[in-house]
Amino acid sequence: MPPLERIYLDYAATTPINAEVLDVLLLHSKESFGNASSVHSFGRTSKVILEESRELIARSINAEPGEIVFTSGGTEADNHALIGAALARRRNSGKNHILISSVEHHAVLECAEYLSECGFVISQIPVDTAGRVHLNEVENLLRSDTAIVSVMHGNNEVGTLQPIEEISALCKSKNILFHTDTVQTFGKIPVDVKQLGIDFAVFSSHKIYGPKGIGALYIRNGVEIDSLIHGGAQERNHRAGTENIPSLAGFALAVKKSVDVMPELQKHLKKCKTMMTAMLQSQIEGLQINGGAELSLPSILSVSLDHSIYDIESETLLLQLDLHGVAASSGSACTSGSIQPSHVLQAMGKDAKTAKSTVRFSFGKNTTVEEIETASKIFIEIVSALPKK
Ligand SMILES: Cc1ncc(COP(=O)(O)O)c(C=O)c1O
Repeated sequence: MPPLERIYLDYAATTPINAEVLDVLLLHSKESFGNASSVHSFGRTSKVILEESRELIARSINAEPGEIVFTSGGTEADNHALIGAALARRRNSGKNHILISSVEHHAVLECAEYLSECGFVISQIPVDTAGRVHLNEVENLLRSDTAIVSVMHGNNEVGTLQPIEEISALCKSKNILFHTDTVQTFGKIPVDVKQLGIDFAVFSSHKIYGPKGIGALYIRNGVEIDSLIHGGAQERNHRAGTENIPSLAGFALAVKKSVDVMPELQKHLKKCKTMMTAMLQSQIEGLQINGGAELSLPSILSVSLDHSIYDIESETLLLQLDLHGVAASSGSACTSGSIQPSHVLQAMGKDAKTAKSTVRFSFGKNTTVEEIETASKIFIEIVSALPKK
């Protein structure tokens, strides 16, 4: 039997590291081991790499280098922004209310849950059936004691994009801080922090072909925020701990490479998504596409099977796909072996049973048209073999 051809369609979960980025990671692991806080030449070499990497990342989002803090990834950056800003705001102005969208990543949801245990009041902004937040809903939920609003740029489960500029302008007019999670959008659509008018943005290296365990938080100049990690004075007192020079140099190169190819990548991803959508839609009865066709990330295609026709859960579909060599995801959290209906799909009004049959395909720069064709055919065959109700 010929070896199984493996097709990776889970780029929203993580991406393979770029070969040149890996070279940089290895090179600096071997050679640039000095502590960036040391005064000797080894330390100074690391300090130069640190500041050059910071500058490159800042430039890619139209920020100042001093507005970038390196973190261990997107989760830490979300935690730092929300918890750090909430604590500082409450201390400085007594504001105690936090508003988040109902479709946030768990890195934001669980922070909000934690903040609620710390005495903050949390409200959630509803979304429409495409997963989109509307400005009037935000306006209705704002209070005189609202400290921070958090609405993600692009959703990791269904790809829906949010009207960030409108929401940030509203927040600015009321002196409320605005945080947006840009983990899924960065490298696929432009992220210009000044144009978006945001106070905090979050970046993760492993979503853009960089190393894992490294990311960044953008903190607009002048915004007060507490640290989560206390110790040395690294990162201008925002995050203590010796900097991870090899990883952040790799991250910076991954950023450069992503920005350089973004227009072509965007076109390629769009082609993959359009093609797979058309193939699945034309062949599968009761297929539901999640998220709007417009105002959506080209890298993510989320589909569900109508519960009134099929009695199937994503886990089974994903195992079947994997047996045929296709790696995809449900997009929602798996707890103790059973897939919970996604909070995102439920917020979009999907019934729990249909939500439980969701598969997320996500595309990247290495995805080929042939892979899309093969994976679509495999998924169509798996679904046509399912017993119908
Ligand atoms: C929207 C979003 N935010 C945050 C994260 C967490 O990023 P990291 O894996 O770097 O901690 C992810 C990862 O899946 C994500 O998709």
